[in-house]
Amino acid sequence: MPLIAVIGSVNLDIVAKADRLPVAGETVTNAELGRFPGGKGANQALAARRLGAEVMFVACVGTDSAAEEALALLREGGVDLSGVVSVDDVPTGVALITVAASGENQIVVAPGANRSLAPESLQVPIADALICQLEVPGDAVARAAQEFDGFFAVNLAPAMHVDVSILQHADLVIVNETEAAWYGDSLSACTGMIATTYGADGATLSRQGDVIAKAKPPQIEVVDTTAAGDTFTAALTIALVEGQSPEDALQFACAAGAAATMKMGAQPSLPTRADVIALLN
Ligand code: RIB
Repeated sequence: MPLIAVIGSVNLDIVAKADRLPVAGETVTNAELGRFPGGKGANQALAARRLGAEVMFVACVGTDSAAEEALALLREGGVDLSGVVSVDDVPTGVALITVAASGENQIVVAPGANRSLAPESLQVPIADALICQLEVPGDAVARAAQEFDGFFAVNLAPAMHVDVSILQHADLVIVNETEAAWYGDSLSACTGMIATTYGADGATLSRQGDVIAKAKPPQIEVVDTTAAGDTFTAALTIALVEGQSPEDALQFACAAGAAATMKMGAQPSLPTRADVIALLN
């Protein structure tokens, strides 16, 4: 069982499931409202745990009631939360999410306490692998990248300018196709592997411009794509750290990401390893 550390965000997701996503300036009605624990960091931590890893999580939340609601499934799932700091006078992060009947989503995040994860007070964990994303300050991610001694995976989401040291220290970078286009040639600073996801069309794994593996997800009925990328990130990291081949690891990650789209909500939908194996078979 690998020990995975995750440094990242915690959000409470307020979700409206509607027939379709609104265009700018439009009101779409008749949605169903839900509240789910979310945040890319928290989702990746719980995904790793459900896939069988020991997981320690470093994050910031507020001291409001949203904090416990947002951490509830991590706590219940057995993620080590001793690195989660409660910060006074700031709200816990909130994500406003619209999910269409097709499962596609739109997300707006109010980061709140996630902005308080400061590089100077960051305790970089000791673990087999560290996973970061970009919903916490980039200079904290850069410090973690420079100091962490182990397999370093970074999900460059949401897309934003990052210190080149993050790319230079990454053993694995994960982007979706929109993010890959946004980062363009700057990703060539990464000498590790780059995984690019294409939704239902699968994913590729490449190293310095050479594609080393391709995989497609199993066909499933999509309900909500929220946290599919987070699950893919956790699954690929675990599979590579376990020593699976690039092909097998990518296939496992595609199946895990697909499994996470079969239920509503970010964290309620995260699959166990048995769920993923069942889907692969
Ligand atoms: O990746 C999905 C996550 O993005 C959601 O849970 C939401 O909180 C946003 O951070």
